[in-house]
Amino acid sequence: MSNGNAISAPTLKSTYKIASIPGDGIGPEVISAGVEVLTALTKCKKFEGQFELDFTHLDWGTDRYLKTGKYTPEDYLQQLKEYDAILFGSVGSPSVPDHISLWGLRLAICQPLQQYANVRPTRILPGTKSPLANCQPGDLDWVIVRENSEGEYAGQGGRSHIGEEHEVATELSIFTRTGVRRIAQFAFMVAQGRPRKMLTYVTKSNAQRNGMVMWDEVVREVAKDFPDVTLDHMLVDAMTVRMVLNPRSLDTILATNLHADILSDLAAALAGSIGIAPTANLDPSRKNPSMFEPIHGSAFDITGLGVANPVGTLWSCSEMLHWLGESEAAVGLMVAVEKVCEAGIMTKDLGGSAGTKEVTQAVIEELGKL
Ligand code: NAI
Ligand code: MG
Repeated sequence: MSNGNAISAPTLKSTYKIASIPGDGIGPEVISAGVEVLTALTKCKKFEGQFELDFTHLDWGTDRYLKTGKYTPEDYLQQLKEYDAILFGSVGSPSVPDHISLWGLRLAICQPLQQYANVRPTRILPGTKSPLANCQPGDLDWVIVRENSEGEYAGQGGRSHIGEEHEVATELSIFTRTGVRRIAQFAFMVAQGRPRKMLTYVTKSNAQRNGMVMWDEVVREVAKDFPDVTLDHMLVDAMTVRMVLNPRSLDTILATNLHADILSDLAAALAGSIGIAPTANLDPSRKNPSMFEPIHGSAFDITGLGVANPVGTLWSCSEMLHWLGESEAAVGLMVAVEKVCEAGIMTKDLGGSAGTKEVTQAVIEELGKL
């Protein structure tokens, strides 16, 4: 079995075209922080002249849906294919059922654009605290790789006898050998690129005896191509216990769409806050643009208050720069973010008292000192 084409190499450019989709809730607040910081980065002493970022802002979100009945224009996929990357805020509003908004925008982008690898790094940033009593920075440093194109979120199923007492609803999980193999290859490559070269894959192959058993088989087949990676297996329920009680024993984690969705929220909380956690939705073939977004949602409870933590978005911006091939700038951005955290300039979710704008300005100042 070949793994030679699992991740294509980036093509460096002098200007990258970025589609920004702020979306709903706190999305616009954190995305404008991201755009401001990225723009400052391309103009700071260290990186000036290396590359430009050309942003186009797309008003796709619930306001548009309420006016037109659609989250996006008809030709939205064609439009997105013109960009090098997509920066996404959040979708979801109290005025629209969540399954309509999620499928109307976010899943309508990830799935057709074959962004099958959802990558979620998590670590404890300097100056921040894990809710785990004995967990220091360095004790929790994970990358969760989530299958992002099928599985439990394939969208198959239906409802019959709607509203009747005997209503029936099915939600069908779809696991394909190709889909599992490609995400497993990707996860092994991520693990191989990290110092500890450890991969833990998560399924539920005791109770779910079909798709999950095929997952186990395919992951073990792919493992033969990566003899330098240490592989182990966890059932998803036991995995939650291990994440809490023995975070140091984990490094790279591979799981299905649903399982990794849940485990990555847990990971974010264990690292201090959902407000810091980033996501990359990657098409590793690079035939389509990839999409970068904070893990969190619209956060209705804090929308408009100016207290949303921008760090999850800034970290996602750093992941975007890595993916574009601008790794030096990506690292520089995270250095600036970490310095700001270390200095205690943090939003309330991390125990600080700064607002979104103060954190954003502080990161921009740090970029100037690089
Ligand atoms: P949520 O992530 O929006 O909020 C959960 C809790 O975390 C809230 O208390 C919120 O204030 C806090 N929080 C989230 N981000 C924060 C930040 N940057 N700084 C400080 N605190 C932060 O999740 P929830 O409440 O389950 O969902 C709200 C809406 O967002 C729903 O409509 C949901 O469907 C949508 N959603 C969209 C996602 C996406 O577009 N990728 C992902 C998750 C949820
Ligand atoms: Mg989630």
